[in-house]
Amino acid sequence: MNRFESSPVPFRLQRSELAVPGSNPGMIEKAAGSEADCVLLDCEDSVAPDQKSQARCNIISALNEIDWKETGKTVSVRINGTESPQIERDVGEIIEKAGYHIDTILIPKVNTPEDVHAVERLLSLALLTSGITIRIGLECLIETALGLVNVEAIARLSCATESRLEALHFGMADFSASCQSRSLTIGEMDSGQTNHIWHPSRQRILVACRAYGLRAVDGPYGDFRNPQGFIDAATGAAAMGYDGKWAIHPDQVMLANQVMSPTDAEVEQARKILDALDQARSLGQGVVSLDEKMVDAASGKMAENIISKSLAIAEKPSA
Ligand code: GLV
Ligand code: MG
Repeated sequence: MNRFESSPVPFRLQRSELAVPGSNPGMIEKAAGSEADCVLLDCEDSVAPDQKSQARCNIISALNEIDWKETGKTVSVRINGTESPQIERDVGEIIEKAGYHIDTILIPKVNTPEDVHAVERLLSLALLTSGITIRIGLECLIETALGLVNVEAIARLSCATESRLEALHFGMADFSASCQSRSLTIGEMDSGQTNHIWHPSRQRILVACRAYGLRAVDGPYGDFRNPQGFIDAATGAAAMGYDGKWAIHPDQVMLANQVMSPTDAEVEQARKILDALDQARSLGQGVVSLDEKMVDAASGKMAENIISKSLAIAEKPSA
């Protein structure tokens, strides 16, 4: 069955995903006032093991006390992974006490489709127990060697009727650890991005997302005092087709929003392409020369991607 017919993924702007530790209420409050398209409230790796219960309480309070809808943001919670003893309480307690304020759950370290099914079962039970009827989506972090091996099968879950799957994220920090890469930094790219160690994996995740109608989100960049490094990393992901990138510091939010938005020049060029194609078609031609370059139906599709993204951005309410 065609994925788009079975259960269309709700549209969400996801240029910037500001990740905040659930153990830090001050940071959560600041994130609500930021320009991020999405805020990711974290129960997993940014929270110390002895802070897990407190982080859940903070997240529940923040979900209930902050008017997230008013901020126009998508609110996502990263639960602990399927191998963690915390996962049942993450899903059970957070959904039951604050489920109405959550848009999506991000599952870390997804290795197989079965990991997603396991979370679906926990989520369905929590929703049933608490009588919550809103739709909560699922997003998966691909950040292990096994997760990458299975990425197409994971993305294909979105073909199931009433699938909750909306997006895949590339978590390059855990991925580097899982692959035993010779790296000690988070998300930093050397020059010449196309030759970078992550390029094939990033591309594979992006293609799996596009094949099955999911959003694609690029992971963190740890050197938050290096805006140019962040811009370079985000630019590589944007060129590939990624919808957005994580921000692990508020200073990275605007950079992500900028890099992941079409520029005015791109929008103008996209309009010119569509106009030129309209004219060509009215003369019975499928191909035309614009600024001494060939333009055809494929150029039209690329142009429409740019225009629809820029329209969605224009509609976003500001924080
Ligand atoms: C994110 O969780 C990462 O590991 O990069
Ligand atoms: Mg990780």
